[in-house]
Amino acid sequence: MQHRVAAIGGDGIGPEIIAAGKEVLDAAGERFGFDIAWTDFDVGAERYLSTGELLTEEDLRDLSKFRAIYFGAIGDARVKPGILEKGILLAIRFHFDQFVNLRPIKLLKGVTTPLADKGPEDVDFVVVRENTEDFYVGIGSRFSGRHEEKTLEVVRDLYNIRFGLDVETDADEIAYQIGVVTRQGAERVIRYAFDLAVTRDRKVTSVDKANVLSDVYGLWRDVFTEVAAGYPDVATEFNFVDAVTMWFVKNPEWFDVVVTPNMFGDIITDLGAMIQGGLGLAPGGNINPTGTSMFEPIHGSAPKYRGQDVANPLATIWAGSMLLDHLGEPDAAKAVLRAIEQSILDGFVTRDMGGERKTSEVGRYVASLVKKV
Ligand code: IPM
Ligand code: MN
Repeated sequence: MQHRVAAIGGDGIGPEIIAAGKEVLDAAGERFGFDIAWTDFDVGAERYLSTGELLTEEDLRDLSKFRAIYFGAIGDARVKPGILEKGILLAIRFHFDQFVNLRPIKLLKGVTTPLADKGPEDVDFVVVRENTEDFYVGIGSRFSGRHEEKTLEVVRDLYNIRFGLDVETDADEIAYQIGVVTRQGAERVIRYAFDLAVTRDRKVTSVDKANVLSDVYGLWRDVFTEVAAGYPDVATEFNFVDAVTMWFVKNPEWFDVVVTPNMFGDIITDLGAMIQGGLGLAPGGNINPTGTSMFEPIHGSAPKYRGQDVANPLATIWAGSMLLDHLGEPDAAKAVLRAIEQSILDGFVTRDMGGERKTSEVGRYVASLVKKV
């Protein structure tokens, strides 16, 4: 059996962690009887700086031939923030309609969590982050006053009514950006969360801010309630996003599957990463169940560690485990996760986790474990 997978190392530590991840996935293939044919794509800051290209039509066409992309990281100090993020990472998520951003929050054995008195049995849930809507749709504007024609009518009215001011003459500068939730967009991701909960502990928590942003998240809640009606044996709960940041810290054991709009999902999964032991251990999958999906560590490119062979590859290796699961290799996926856990228990880890191993050494070690655990 052969799987074809696209690989984008990207910037900073990206190429090193992807190299480590590939080694582990190849080893899993040897044990579980499949072979991965990798196709590398040159995408990132270096190419952008020399050619001005972020992602070309041709890149997207070529990537569309794969069911999975293994993605390292992008981000480089020489490029203004936002250019690479929007032009590459978000562009791939949107172009391939990867509407689920799946982020497991699981404390592995042997990992230190900053939460006192909590262990692996307490921290084991999954965040299903909507990945194509909300404040990420990119609808907004920013401009100086006297540009009335460019002002969204509702912003203008609000400004006039609220402040008794006239946008055209009184606003020096104004900016707005809007969040969008559609029924279809909410429904497909919420349904995904419920289907996932059925394979786990049968509880879904919706995280939103329907008490303030009552239009967008009011619709979200209505859809959640409707979808939930089709899953009578799954328990449900609504949490406001501010409150959930408390509960993640105080009672992580309450959660099984958490489903949330894009922006809140972004924020609470960094918190989730911390309670599972840090960004070095937090993977994510950008999933389109019927198209091209992408698996990546949720951390960035850490440019200052580039080329030093010190970055922690475990989040990337874990993302690789999710990739294998997605490709229909659940046994291999589980073995990769067990191998990660074993390398931690053996103390065979990078500096950030208190060890002294190099990125490449951890990759090689986890690859050797994957053949026996
Ligand atoms: C993430 C990142 C991205 C996001 C950025 C880099 C665009 O923070 O994957 O969580 O906001 O989704
Ligand atoms: Mn983020």
